[in-house]
Amino acid sequence: MIGFDIIRLAHAEFNVTDLERARDFYVNALGFIETEADSNHIYLRAIEDGNHHCLVLTKADTPSLNHIAYRVGSEEELYKLEAFFQAQNLPMRWVEKDEERGQGRALRIQDPAGFPVEFFFEMEKAERMLQKFNQHTGAKIKRIDHANCLVTDIYCIHKWYMEELGFKCSEYTVVGSAENERLWASWLHRKPSVHDLALVNERGPRLHHIGFWVDDAKTILDACDYLAASGYALHIERSPGRHGTSNAFFVYVRDWDGHRLELYTGDYFTNDPDWEPIKWHLEDPQRATFWGTEPPQTWKKEAMLVQNILTGELVEVKEPVSKKVTK
Ligand SMILES: [Fe+2]
Ligand SMILES: [Fe+2]
Repeated sequence: MIGFDIIRLAHAEFNVTDLERARDFYVNALGFIETEADSNHIYLRAIEDGNHHCLVLTKADTPSLNHIAYRVGSEEELYKLEAFFQAQNLPMRWVEKDEERGQGRALRIQDPAGFPVEFFFEMEKAERMLQKFNQHTGAKIKRIDHANCLVTDIYCIHKWYMEELGFKCSEYTVVGSAENERLWASWLHRKPSVHDLALVNERGPRLHHIGFWVDDAKTILDACDYLAASGYALHIERSPGRHGTSNAFFVYVRDWDGHRLELYTGDYFTNDPDWEPIKWHLEDPQRATFWGTEPPQTWKKEAMLVQNILTGELVEVKEPVSKKVTK
């Protein structure tokens, strides 16, 4: 088994069709802090961030996921990863310093599931707003937490992140009868929380959502009031609730282009050496929502296309290898 010093999911870049409209949603309504902007980009950070950005909005003709990015522990780690990805024959390119404003030299790949994934070490500093309480507004988002990715071959990609990159599993979902049980979803982490990356068996590669951490359930309820009073009631897609998986309290919102964000809080510590992953069955009504309520159809069906790191084109969506088998 190989391991790499990957610290955590640290930012994402969304391609959006209208920057001004996006700014109103992300800055005025959600309360992200604008670090800087140019005619094609807005660089955003959250309240706790001491770095340049945790979310980039980039102007494009078609909305899609540009990339998700993991921070690594040193510059040298990037060269170890380069050698590994080269041996794996994965599409890969170097993103030079400041090609993405504020970011040092970074390595970008298309992972085996087809996702645009970046690894970086260096990021420009920015003012940390944690104790500027008089400037916290909107949803009061503290930091990025995780990416939820829809993949066509859950077993292989789960194994790749675990066995090759050294991610750990906190929880997972199976489908099928006891004799014929198969993996349906997994929650993988680098930082000592439930996840940096969730993998779900679906049509893919598509990004389901990016999760952002907020303080508590009351902050999530207040965020809904703030969004609704700001004219964004219809952007609240899945009402607040508690997940069975991860124990987190949540609400899901969508931007003008359909990018989905989860406001997320209340998961738990996972780094003890004797941690044993928690197993759920897909048919358990308390898995997705602990209170037993069903998510809306749009939440179940819709997700964002992802970009090819070499051509900029959208990656073709395929059917999952393993179809759902109900008992
Ligand atoms: Fe990046
Ligand atoms: Fe999530």
